[in-house]
Amino acid sequence: MTTNLQDRGAWGSRFGFIMAAAGSAIGLGNIWRFPYVTGQNGGAIFVLFYLFFILLIGLPVMIGEFSIGRFSRKNPVGAFKLIAPRSGWKYLGLLGILTGISILSFYAVIAGYTVGYIFKAVRGDFAQLGSAEAASSAYEAFSASPELSIGLLFAFLAITGFIVIRGVRGGIEKMAKLLMPILFLLLIILAIRSVTLEGAGKGLEFYLKPDFSKVTSSSILTALGQALFSLSLGMGTMITYGSYLSKNEDIGKSAIIVCFFDTLVAILAGFVILPALFALGADPEAGPRLIFVVIPSLLNNMPGGAVFGIGFFTLLSIAALTSTVSLLEVPVAYFVDEWKWNRKKSVIISIGITFMLGIPSALAGGAVGFLTSLPKLGIDFLSFMSIVFNDFSLSIGACMVALFAAYRWGIKNTVGEIEREGVKFTYKAIWTFLIRFITPILIAAVFIQVIYQTFFS
Ligand code: PHE
Repeated sequence: MTTNLQDRGAWGSRFGFIMAAAGSAIGLGNIWRFPYVTGQNGGAIFVLFYLFFILLIGLPVMIGEFSIGRFSRKNPVGAFKLIAPRSGWKYLGLLGILTGISILSFYAVIAGYTVGYIFKAVRGDFAQLGSAEAASSAYEAFSASPELSIGLLFAFLAITGFIVIRGVRGGIEKMAKLLMPILFLLLIILAIRSVTLEGAGKGLEFYLKPDFSKVTSSSILTALGQALFSLSLGMGTMITYGSYLSKNEDIGKSAIIVCFFDTLVAILAGFVILPALFALGADPEAGPRLIFVVIPSLLNNMPGGAVFGIGFFTLLSIAALTSTVSLLEVPVAYFVDEWKWNRKKSVIISIGITFMLGIPSALAGGAVGFLTSLPKLGIDFLSFMSIVFNDFSLSIGACMVALFAAYRWGIKNTVGEIEREGVKFTYKAIWTFLIRFITPILIAAVFIQVIYQTFFS
């Protein structure tokens, strides 16, 4: 039992916690996924839905997750078992563990690609990628190589595992503190370059001027999934991170800070990618390959582009790493708490499962035809995983967390945890109203309209 307590760890400081939670939130979701789903789903109108869901669903659920985690000091399964013993709620925790491993399995594939692109930048490959077509075929050649994709997947998971073995404080926290601010600065520079390109205006209009005729039921679900994915909600990451939080931290304030920066980085990434995309004449619906097409050609048009390229893909890899670390931390905390394994064993086994599960996603970039375009569905395996686990699983998870906090654990207990040690919960009334009525109903409404659209119209 004592070893177990030692193995759990805790954050070193308030700032360290916020940076780690922000590090979890900020990652490929903001910089790789947000621009391409915005491109695929009609631009500004999608962004509006996304912002709306961050405020009415993301923020309230994050406060709920932090509070559940800190109260229970446990992984998601342990937390639900503690608060609601002998009930079905533990399966919600298990869904979180499964979702964590599944998201990690394809997330690490893309993270591996970003590492591959550091090498491409160092080699000076971007000098030949001045047009969107050239960048696109270079990406295809790269992602179609099974050795590269699988090798990079493995390497990325191994680094993630190494950091998680070192534990909460030494590994995750130190790295996040140092590097997140630099990434932010670099994005600002790239955004300035992008919006000043000739022909960027069309992209800005696409990004900022909502076209209501482009709303579809699947784009609404994608916006919800994107909001939750980006904030690392709906699978217990923030329950786990909250479990390392000390009792006198201000949960409400921390959640607001994390949501704010996460959203800011996504919006900023949109300003980097979308204007450049139109200026370069790339396809807004290019999907997962979008940043790998736009960034090299954007840099090609920029003085000092090679250096920025190395910087960009290095920092993006690190942003991805602070997220993969948080994804892996969920199953690891589960094995440490519930199965009484030590950290090392928990990490090695979790990574092993994730790697196997990641192989089909690694082969979905052109290496295996069947996985690159799944029969009947027409999409690649990686995108399929992302739809199932981001859009569906996280939405279900977030809805259940809201219901749990509002009705099972109850407002009184959740607020009691937040206000422990005399911290004032400024937005208590609004939060209570949202988590009781708005958050779960809104998620249910999104699902109902998707089901309706799919089967009855
Ligand atoms: N939020 C991370 C990102 O945007 C991804 C993530 C999802 C991390 C869920 C943890 C849990 O990149």
